[in-house]
Amino acid sequence: MGETSLKQTVDKRRTFAIISHPDAGKTTITEQMLLFGGAIRQAGTVKAKKSGKFATSDWMEIEKQRGISVTSSVMQFDYEGKRVNILDTPGHQDFSEDTYRTLMAVDAAVMVIDSTKGIEAQTKKLFKVCRMRGIPIFTFMNKLDRDGRMPLELVEELENILGIDAYAMNWPMGSGRTLLGIYDLYNNRIEVAHPDRDNNGERLIAVDDAGEIVGDHPFKDQSVYTDALEEVELLRIAGNNFSEEAVRAGELTPVFFGSALTNFGVQTFLEAFLKLAPSPTSVADKSGREVTPTEDQFSGFVFKIQANMDPNHRDRIAFLRIVSGEFERGMDVQLPRLDKKIRLNNSTNFMAEDRQTIESAVAGDIIGLYDTGTYQIGDTIYTGKEPIEFEDLPQFTPELFMKIQPKNVMKQKSFHKGLQQLVQEGAIQVYRLHHSNDYIVGAVGQLQFEVLKTRMQQEYNSDIDMTPIGNRIARWIAPEQLDPKMSSSRNTLVYDRFDQPLFLFENEFAERWFSDKYPEVELTSLL
Ligand code: G4P
Repeated sequence: MGETSLKQTVDKRRTFAIISHPDAGKTTITEQMLLFGGAIRQAGTVKAKKSGKFATSDWMEIEKQRGISVTSSVMQFDYEGKRVNILDTPGHQDFSEDTYRTLMAVDAAVMVIDSTKGIEAQTKKLFKVCRMRGIPIFTFMNKLDRDGRMPLELVEELENILGIDAYAMNWPMGSGRTLLGIYDLYNNRIEVAHPDRDNNGERLIAVDDAGEIVGDHPFKDQSVYTDALEEVELLRIAGNNFSEEAVRAGELTPVFFGSALTNFGVQTFLEAFLKLAPSPTSVADKSGREVTPTEDQFSGFVFKIQANMDPNHRDRIAFLRIVSGEFERGMDVQLPRLDKKIRLNNSTNFMAEDRQTIESAVAGDIIGLYDTGTYQIGDTIYTGKEPIEFEDLPQFTPELFMKIQPKNVMKQKSFHKGLQQLVQEGAIQVYRLHHSNDYIVGAVGQLQFEVLKTRMQQEYNSDIDMTPIGNRIARWIAPEQLDPKMSSSRNTLVYDRFDQPLFLFENEFAERWFSDKYPEVELTSLL
């Protein structure tokens, strides 16, 4: 591919993560988008998960049950000339460090919120990582077909809890049974929720500069309409100004209202999103060089490794975000961590309905590399003369901890080998206790412990015992400030895998007590 056509191809990429609290409607909206893009043919492919069918974005579970080799948590489709890559972020009990790392591999995030509930705790955590990266965040307030909370209240909550400015791209006119439609401030029009009932089948109504409907007034329920119009007026006067720059910097979140289930407002959202979301941008490597998406040298980094839960299939898949250049099947790449050359023969992309071997992909795309244990999270691969090595991916402060030991003390060797490899792979974090030779493992979600247990047993033939310690606050301390006597039952001294000391505090009170007692000590956390 020539430089111009590579630029054209890359400019069409939109790679984003979709995040939400469980049940907010992430699966449903993903399905709608895949339908628009023609990547699935039938509604219900995603939605009917509870009736025994399955969701494209829920393939992991299904694949686990069926023993198929890998998960498909990346979906790709084309829409209006754009190539869209959606990265699913697992919720529920499946929440893990992988969820955070996925956010390192995208150029934007879409946050789905249940408008009958508002912002929930888990969304907050994910949001923090997006903010840290400075990527644009788009908000979809879902379930407008239900009687929800006041829209002004929802937007205010969004701004207060998440600490970001919001701009309403459109505004609901009623909700639940009174829902008439949305007033689209961005496109200057009204989108009718029940066109057959209210507007002779026409979905869109033009409004003039004063915000008034051009032509006949369709809505019987005038009061809902005029109330909404008053709020829109208020937004125009007192709300934030729209700024594409602020959106791109992740400082202003465009807010859309709609209903994924009834497919209302989703297309409007998708079209505005594709217009405003950035195409792939450059990434700085360790030497400080900005690696641009359109340069000749192919490069990318591994942000997730999916191991197979089926003992009959030991293969793993390393998820690679392409940062620059073009991938071609069979190409030779350099893996700087091992100073090793690798031929990329076996790779896959993630189309919605079937996984297929890919021949080529460009910056912004996500590809899966079959892996027999070569890759680690954060690995760079590249081609060309100039070495490229991207910064390590950040580690995230674990919150849940377990004591861990081999069931059979005679099997120390496989225990240590397995633990070491799984830690390197990024599946879990491990700590050594100061006062004994025992180990503690730390995770951000319960699932990580379950995966650890299964994989230790299946892949390393090591049965483990785990004793929950529960939630702890992990805070690192500079070695020169450390006095082991500072450790107590409320703040256990442990060392991480780089031999850096940290305390596991029982709770916030214990941490405050410690800081009062040792004011000169600086405690730090990971992200
Ligand atoms: P998730 O991936 O974020 O966990 O949410 P998912 O899409 O699975 O949706 C969770 C539930 O919310 C589903 O109902 C889904 O049908 C419903 N839902 C999604 N979007 C909307 C919407 O716009 N309006 C309304 N009213 N409901 C919505 P369920 O009862 O849990 O599942 P099902 O039995 O309907 O499949």
